[in-house]
Amino acid sequence: MIKTIATQPYSDQKMGTGGLRKKTKVVMQPNYFENFMQSIFNTIGDSSGKTFVVGGDGRFYNAIAIQKLIKMAAANGVAKLIVGQNGLLSTPASSNILLKNKTDGGFVLSASHNPGGGNGDFGIKYANETGGQIPTSISDKIFETSKQISEYKIFDAPDIDLSRLGTQKLGDMEIEVIDSVKDYVEMMERIFDFSAIKKLFANGFSMRFDAMNAVTGPYAIRIFEEVLGATKGSVVHAIPLPDFGGLHPDPNLVYAKELVDFMFSEHAADFAAANDGDGDRNMILGKKFFVTPSDSLAILTDNFKLIPAYKNGIFGVGKSAATSSAVSRVAQAHNIGYYEVPTGWKYFVNLMDSNRITFCGEESFGTGSSHIREKDGIWAVLFWLNIIAATGKSVEEITREHWQKYGRSYYMRFDFEGITTDIADKLMADLENKLPLLNGKEINGFKIANAAPFVYNDPVDHSTTKNGLIITFEDGSRIVYRLSGTGSSGATIRVYLERYSKDNLNAEPLAMLTELLRIALDVAEIPERTGKHQADVVT
Ligand code: G1P
Ligand code: ZN
Repeated sequence: MIKTIATQPYSDQKMGTGGLRKKTKVVMQPNYFENFMQSIFNTIGDSSGKTFVVGGDGRFYNAIAIQKLIKMAAANGVAKLIVGQNGLLSTPASSNILLKNKTDGGFVLSASHNPGGGNGDFGIKYANETGGQIPTSISDKIFETSKQISEYKIFDAPDIDLSRLGTQKLGDMEIEVIDSVKDYVEMMERIFDFSAIKKLFANGFSMRFDAMNAVTGPYAIRIFEEVLGATKGSVVHAIPLPDFGGLHPDPNLVYAKELVDFMFSEHAADFAAANDGDGDRNMILGKKFFVTPSDSLAILTDNFKLIPAYKNGIFGVGKSAATSSAVSRVAQAHNIGYYEVPTGWKYFVNLMDSNRITFCGEESFGTGSSHIREKDGIWAVLFWLNIIAATGKSVEEITREHWQKYGRSYYMRFDFEGITTDIADKLMADLENKLPLLNGKEINGFKIANAAPFVYNDPVDHSTTKNGLIITFEDGSRIVYRLSGTGSSGATIRVYLERYSKDNLNAEPLAMLTELLRIALDVAEIPERTGKHQADVVT
């Protein structure tokens, strides 16, 4: 029943910031998915006795890929798979199931916030027993293996019925199909004050949650509408669709425009949020008010005492280097640990495992805690609802009071997309070479205090990672440059800008950052080298 199929290697199966991400059409090439999965199994070595979690965000090609994965796992001697019903599991739900069942790892078939469909993207995230995505040392091995692969193993059997809950067998392998939502809801009930949030909704508080036609729809309906009592219809775009209904399931001001327009209209709800394709990102909105993810991390951290699971204290907080420094002031005020890591959630895993941090976040709409080892969209939304229920204040009041207390980090990100890889690589290399010359220079009134690549030394495994270039000014303002590691073609240059003010709290972010933006473009010669005078996406 186990077939060994001869195959030719592909040269591009290198994982980026969050797993392997490719055009769906690339993944649909003969044996492409199989090669990659076999490279993982070969890297793991002996899979006998091992258990893995399997799920996905429901995007196009998921149903086919998941059947291949199951049959390949059986052929490679895996003992058991725990699979989300109909192949659905959000990334945070998967991490929870992985940790709860002490499994050996898990697979989420998702390209996260990237568009789906035949012309969109497909992806595979692989987590190990930590519940978090594998470190680069392992993904490098998988990549090396994929370049030499000559055969893969697959079980020859009809497709497994993934709509049926319970246990089935494929050869010696057990397949347990589980309710995709249940364990996740129970975990959230253990963390937050559900009765306080129930009261909030019972008193007429209104909310809109945009699931962007992706995986969080069923989770959000169960939690917000059925358990907490938000009005029916509060969750919109709630049915996971293979192409996300043509939406780009990335919860930000650009792609969640419908929700943003609603919240800036006369009919706005008291509170709104959106999640991305696989449920690990979140955007928070109040009435005519947007909370930057960097501020959100700072505000959640400052309010940890309001949450049952954290009220007795937290270890510390981590942020990616590109994220604004807002949370650093909170960490200082509470005298808790503070860590800056490279972009990518996997860098938080060691810090969580070693009790150095409890909370962490990225400017890219990611927030989470050590309840799992992935960022968690619905967790962040519940955290905000819990703060609102406990304080009786609106999103805007909570945020403005935060600025009053700590000052405000004006922050924006500018993405220059679709750039030829060679041009982008050269731009970054030339900029890096130029950085030492910038130290101490003054440009248009901004004096540079330090200009250097960001280098992270992991305090636990002592690995070193270099990611991005940072120019820090004497007034604390910063420019961060990075190349995206999640695209499926070409290159994206990300430019992150930050400027702090203790008392000027009500300015327009763009007005505060215009000069820095000009400096950022000039210094890196972005217009000259890319032909772009404006960013494609601004968040
Ligand atoms: C992007 C974000 C990063 C996040 C990752 C996965 O990666 O910038 O913060 O961890 O998606 O969601 P990038 O494309 O910048 O490499
Ligand atoms: Zn995601």
